Amino acid sequence: MIPLARPSVGEREEELVLETLRSGRLALGPRLPEFEERLGARLGAEHVSAVSSGTAGLHLAVRAAGIKPGDDVVTTPFSFVASANCLLYEGARPVFCDIDPRTLNISVEAAGDALTERTTGIVPVHIFGYPADMAGIELLSRDCGLWVVEDACEALGAVHADGRPVGTRGNLSVFAFYPNKQLTTGEGGAVVAPSTAVKERIDSERNQGRAPDMGWLDHDRLGFNYRLDDLSCALGLAQLERLDELLAARARVAALYGEALGGVEGLDLPCPDEGGDRRSWFVYVVQLPREVDRDASVTAMRERGVDTKPYLPAIHLMSFYRERFGHREGEFPVCEGVAARALALPFFPELADADVEQVAESLLAVIGR
Ligand SMILES: Cc1ncc(COP(=O)(O)O)c(C=O)c1O
Repeated sequence: MIPLARPSVGEREEELVLETLRSGRLALGPRLPEFEERLGARLGAEHVSAVSSGTAGLHLAVRAAGIKPGDDVVTTPFSFVASANCLLYEGARPVFCDIDPRTLNISVEAAGDALTERTTGIVPVHIFGYPADMAGIELLSRDCGLWVVEDACEALGAVHADGRPVGTRGNLSVFAFYPNKQLTTGEGGAVVAPSTAVKERIDSERNQGRAPDMGWLDHDRLGFNYRLDDLSCALGLAQLERLDELLAARARVAALYGEALGGVEGLDLPCPDEGGDRRSWFVYVVQLPREVDRDASVTAMRERGVDTKPYLPAIHLMSFYRERFGHREGEFPVCEGVAARALALPFFPELADADVEQVAESLLAVIGR
């Protein structure tokens, strides 16, 4: 079976993780600040806090941005559920708006139309590693006095047209390091903060509300346990050393898929880079021809030894969101149309040429092209 995803872990990862394991410093040790500093250096960002997951990072980021119970926050329904859930943790309401049909990112125009009197913030997501229109979102946020938290969980390595890495525009930004991501720490994530003071708040809240100079059992604010352990940081350090190689390997696989599947009638591929924006390849998601039965395709692909997954489902149509907020089909037609046709193909750095060929051939046979 060709799997959907597989982390690339080699000798350097083994070496650093083993060294850390043998050091006896498994948590709150030296690997944590080392990982934060190296990640910051790689991004060109000064204030980075490593946390236990992307979701934990989003939670701390919206808190640091000033979210309050009863706030409306505009976000995209075409995302992993965590980008909306983090708002619910704080008693705010996710207000969804439709997406851009080319990039699949939040439409700035639709975001503007979705603002209410209670809107205080906006959470754009760089979906599938393609940079969201941050210039447009920042204009909107400036005009309307909104905070911005960027969900860059899928976008480590992506670059905006002006040359700035995604996640470094001065908003709070969040990355995630689950094993299917461009860089993995196992579970893990990171927040990029705009100042030392915000980083200190995040560092405190990830560690039960303890300030750096406080005794072990003294706490001056509400906090959580969102710490990232040193073994994970060691893994992340090794992955950071190899990040360019890992990103290039992903881009290579994407190019092979592009060659094998380009020009097939009715099959839409991920959009190419445009206007100077550069995608960091996270997944390879195609949109099947409209008449094709996606569920049957998943089964037929599995029978041919290829794992695929409908990805992503629209958040507003998930049962929890429907029941809680009364969402129905038809609210966000572009998102719903994409979500109904989207299929993730096997995608990871070490996917062999022959496997890409097998996936492509199977897909074309299954969809009758
Ligand atoms: C867009 C997006 N947001 C948030 C997350 C949450 O990250 P994690 O799974 O590390 O909590 C993910 C990861 O899957 C994601 O893809």
